[in-house]
Amino acid sequence: MVGFLSFVALAVALAAPAAAFPAHGSLAGLSRQELDDAMSGFGEYTRPPPPPGPLEYGGVKLVNDADHPFIAPGEGDIRGPCPALNTLANHGYISRNGIESPSNIVRGAMEGFNMNNDLSKFTCYAAFMVNGNLITDLVSIGEKSPKTGPDPKEQPMATIGGLNTHNVFEGDSSMTRADFYDGGDVESFNETLFQGFIEYSNRFGGGRYNLTAAGQFRLKRIQDGVQHNPTFTIVAPRLFSAYSEAVNPINMWVDGRQDDGQLRLDHARSFFEAARFPDDFHRAARPMSADNEAVVHAIHPIEPGANIAGVNTYTVDRNAPRLDDKCGIFEYHVNHTLRTLYPNPTGNLLDAIRANIHYFYTAMEARGCTEIFPYGRFEDGESNNYYAPPDYPEVELPELGTLPFPPVELPTYSDPLVDVGPGATTA
Ligand code: HEM
Ligand SMILES: *[C@@H]1O[C@H](CO)[C@@H](O)[C@H](O)[C@H]1NC(C)=O
Ligand SMILES: *[C@@H]1O[C@H](CO)[C@@H](O)[C@H](O)[C@H]1NC(C)=O
Ligand SMILES: *[C@@H]1O[C@H](CO)[C@@H](O)[C@H](O)[C@H]1NC(C)=O
Repeated sequence: MVGFLSFVALAVALAAPAAAFPAHGSLAGLSRQELDDAMSGFGEYTRPPPPPGPLEYGGVKLVNDADHPFIAPGEGDIRGPCPALNTLANHGYISRNGIESPSNIVRGAMEGFNMNNDLSKFTCYAAFMVNGNLITDLVSIGEKSPKTGPDPKEQPMATIGGLNTHNVFEGDSSMTRADFYDGGDVESFNETLFQGFIEYSNRFGGGRYNLTAAGQFRLKRIQDGVQHNPTFTIVAPRLFSAYSEAVNPINMWVDGRQDDGQLRLDHARSFFEAARFPDDFHRAARPMSADNEAVVHAIHPIEPGANIAGVNTYTVDRNAPRLDDKCGIFEYHVNHTLRTLYPNPTGNLLDAIRANIHYFYTAMEARGCTEIFPYGRFEDGESNNYYAPPDYPEVELPELGTLPFPPVELPTYSDPLVDVGPGATTA
């Protein structure tokens, strides 16, 4: 282990990861085995490229096209809890084997669903940093896989477990997937839950899934968790993702030519269950964010919290950021969740973490969030060069028109408002 430590010291001293594995005299003290261990422990380093910028053409477009045929996953292909990423993989917008780099996932989400650049980056880097392999720049969209490369050594807290990993990004109260507590399968489509989705869409959306149905169904799934799952929790980033995922189907699964915020249930099933674009599907008419998540939230405002002593003990976590505090969610994820997984990274790992935090931050820039550097930063400008975004081409904005479902007047945010279960309390 002494050999390993001195290797780390060398990598840190160089602070130039591309040159971290030189045929260098200073490594001579290591045995062949120690050297191999050190090298494979870090994996082959792929310095993470910057994410792509916005689409050049961000309008409606046939996406279930001849270049992207549906092919069901084959032997060994990985699928996971995100029906949209599964769809992108089944149509070849991202790697069909389910192992991808964050920058390609961002590209695929923009191209296939017209998810806007910032939301694509926010979602993707938030998930990648905590579930992916930072050294190889690869993540599994489902279960943990050796195809993302060897885990960096000396990181006992980091699972690098793919998107299925519970409670660093994936979380409770999914619409069509069970809670982890309920058997551990967070990935599979669950027909019983989907029947609830249909029921709520019929009751509140006139047979379509719309914002009204979304607000009611989101509350129902949270109540299910509060009442049946003693480990139920919904804090950052799950609070954010749960609401984003409630509106994503309205924003991005409604055909861009229809563009009315009312999702057909046969299309919903096609995405949730088969992970397949409906025939002739055209993506959204404009780049979409988590538009109107505040509308859904306002129908039954929920504060971040968890069951703290068994079912029906939902308690608000005052230290966790609220849904509308996007800068807070960013900071919490980086400075709390990520630092818990990687308390003390060095060498290439440190370099990759710094880069990924920065790429994650670029999704927050337009909101005026402050960039944070909990892992420090390179002091000299040259080392920071590759963090700079490349020159993106001028973006041609599509005709936006008016949103088909304009934001409504929001009721004032009550503090605290915890109408999620009979035993709900606040702390
Ligand atoms: C940008 C990269 C993306 C990543 C990394 C990602 C990741 C995830 C993950 C980890 C989950 C599971 C969360 C949970 O339910 O506990 C999830 C769920 C979901 N995602 Fe994505 N996603 C991405 C893009 C998208 C896009 C583009 C859409 C829509 C077009 C989308 C729609 C959904 C929906 C609707 C769910 C909820 C499934 C359910 O509750 O049953 N995602 N996503
Ligand atoms: C589907 O979800 C229901 C409701 O939470 C649960 O009772 C059932 O066990 C789940 N089915 C499977 C196959 O996991
Ligand atoms: C959802 O559909 C129902 C039934 O058609 C309708 O009353 C409601 O206004 C719709 N909500 C939205 C936001 O479109
Ligand atoms: C990160 O969290 C620590 C406490 O763990 C705090 O002292 C520090 O100010 C935070 N840094 C940033 C940049 O938010």
